[in-house]
Amino acid sequence: MGRLMLWAGFAACVFAAAAFGGCLPQGSESPVLPPPPVQADQLVLPEGWPMPDQPQDNVFTDGRWALGKLLFFDPRLSRDASISCATCHQPELAFAAPEAISPGVDGLLGTRNAPTLVGAAYAPYFMSEGGVPSLELQVFAPVESHVEMDDNLTHIAEELAADNAADYNALSLEHYGRPLDPFVIIRAIATFERSLISGNAPFDRWQRGELTDSEFGPEAEQGWVLFNDPELACISCHSPPHFTTHGFANNGLENPYIDAGRFLTTGNPADSGVFKIPTLRNIAQSAPYMHDGRFTTLDQVLDHYIAGGVGHPHQAAQLEGFELNSTERQALLTFLIALSDEEFLNDSRWE
Ligand code: HEC
Ligand code: HEC
Repeated sequence: MGRLMLWAGFAACVFAAAAFGGCLPQGSESPVLPPPPVQADQLVLPEGWPMPDQPQDNVFTDGRWALGKLLFFDPRLSRDASISCATCHQPELAFAAPEAISPGVDGLLGTRNAPTLVGAAYAPYFMSEGGVPSLELQVFAPVESHVEMDDNLTHIAEELAADNAADYNALSLEHYGRPLDPFVIIRAIATFERSLISGNAPFDRWQRGELTDSEFGPEAEQGWVLFNDPELACISCHSPPHFTTHGFANNGLENPYIDAGRFLTTGNPADSGVFKIPTLRNIAQSAPYMHDGRFTTLDQVLDHYIAGGVGHPHQAAQLEGFELNSTERQALLTFLIALSDEEFLNDSRWE
């Protein structure tokens, strides 16, 4: 319930900021925004992927991306300047964190595992309960959470804008037509996050015919067949291209659930223990797994699905358990590892 109250607390400011450039002093001018982009070299789309939706007042431009990147890696977004977004969303880990629960300022712990941000541009909502409708609004959550960055955007904007060395104000004026403020911070960070698109894993290259069957490997191919097998049912929830349907499900982790999941945002009892279905792209890099980071290896995840979950009343019907011999088990793991996109993980754009 704490989460619900937290959201109610800053909802007014959040929605004002998103819709009207609010959280500004009374009488401020409405925002002047630069024209749409002439080029967006930093938004690299895999072959055949559509341009992700962007809010009308936050069209992707390389300048906005560069400002967002500076902010994403800047620890001054936390109260004691110790933690940046990248502390919990590390590029080499597919923008996830290595701990089950990552410490925030003063070492305080929340309750959830930091997920990958890969494919965020295509997600219709955010957080495990799906309670946040846009990347722009999501920025308020970590910055203002007491167990994460424990600061506030108005204070951060003042602090950063006063720092001439980083040229934050100049960049903000150039790319958003106004000095650095919460309006700009949430939009620039969201723009950076929209570029975290991964679609050049061996699986994708095999699907596009850039890798031959033998280059992809018979083991990975057998794993893909198993992934599609109705008895395993993986594909029914983790479907390509994003390896998530962007839906919600209870995958039978515990009974009862400590974390109420989607119930926290809908208040509907049928949603308790129901969580956002995560992407499996770069899954070998983004351990540990599940909303609470309970599994440290993909082997443990497979054991969980093979056993068919613990049998929660809301557990999805297709999770009935199945058997795999050791060759099949290895094949499924090999397929999951073939979702790792080295080009994305080692991209110089994140350096
Ligand atoms: C102390 C660790 C920590 C820090 C710092 C942090 N995050 Fe997160 N982030 C998390 C956790 C944990 C979640 C999962 C929250 C949930 O599901 O309720 C999350 C979720 C997200 C999501 C939603 C992903 C999804 O798939 O739904 C986005 C986007 C995100 N963070 C962006 C950011 C940005 C931007 C910053 C910096 C302003 C940031 N995070 C700072 C831990 C952190
Ligand atoms: C009924 C839908 C459903 C099916 C079927 C399903 N999953 Fe999941 N999967 C989920 C949900 C929901 C989560 C997240 C649960 C949570 O956060 O607590 C998840 C999480 C995962 C994770 C961890 C992701 C992360 O980033 O933490 C992996 C790996 C995974 N599933 C693999 C599989 C495999 C392999 C199969 C087939 C054997 C499978 N899933 C079948 C719904 C499903």
